[in-house]
Amino acid sequence: MKTTETIRNMKGKEKIVGLTAYDYQMAQILDRAGIDFLLVGDSLGMVCLGYENTLSVTLEEMIHHGKAARRGVKEALLIIDMPFLSYKVRIEDSVYNAGRLIKETGGSAVKVEGGKELVPTIKAMISADIPVMGHIGLMPQAIHKTGGYKVQRQEGLIDEAKALSDAGIFSLILECIPMGLAEKITKAVSVPTIGIGAGSLCDGQILVTNDLLGLTERRLKFCRRYLDLQKEIACAIQRFIEDVRKGGFPEEDESFS
Ligand code: KIV
Repeated sequence: MKTTETIRNMKGKEKIVGLTAYDYQMAQILDRAGIDFLLVGDSLGMVCLGYENTLSVTLEEMIHHGKAARRGVKEALLIIDMPFLSYKVRIEDSVYNAGRLIKETGGSAVKVEGGKELVPTIKAMISADIPVMGHIGLMPQAIHKTGGYKVQRQEGLIDEAKALSDAGIFSLILECIPMGLAEKITKAVSVPTIGIGAGSLCDGQILVTNDLLGLTERRLKFCRRYLDLQKEIACAIQRFIEDVRKGGFPEEDESFS
């Protein structure tokens, strides 16, 4: 079973590969395929629940899906995202909510979006034995502050990353950052950086599984679609509908005598 230490120790040795998972079946497939870590991301809201953005995702929804994913995972490290306003509130409440995510889902770590302002919260979580993954660059929970989903080019991100690394996070997501800046951050911190739209020079990569599989409508510059599952599924379902309507399903060997 991979741990936060496994991931931390991979920096500079081998590339770390992560994907999102929101349910038992997909978590099991990804785990069996050999993924290093699975993130029950709050992208859950947009990918599985049909919300416009991630802001309405609740702690209860994260727990519900985290528990389902947990049942499918044997080897990979399981990380659960902290949804909007389950942290960045009073530190005691943030630690309590992080604790609920770990205790009730069986995940091994939480992820939080933010920079230096989160250092006291992260230290308090780590003091409560809760490992934390950081997330800087494009932070979907902050879209109303930053004005939308844009590439983040501020050199100040290097200091934010160092502050988080010094606070004790075990790894750091870099989302939508130019590759040169992502490289500088990766060199500046002692923990592994995991890129999503941050180029190839990070210590690892993560994508939203449903984007990679072509299940989502959106087309993202940084996401390679390995399958067009939406099309494949629609074709299969249309064949099933046709078979039933024409009397071609079920056949005798698909029936009990
Ligand atoms: O919620 C999520 O899926 C994420 C990844 C995109 C890193 O935060």
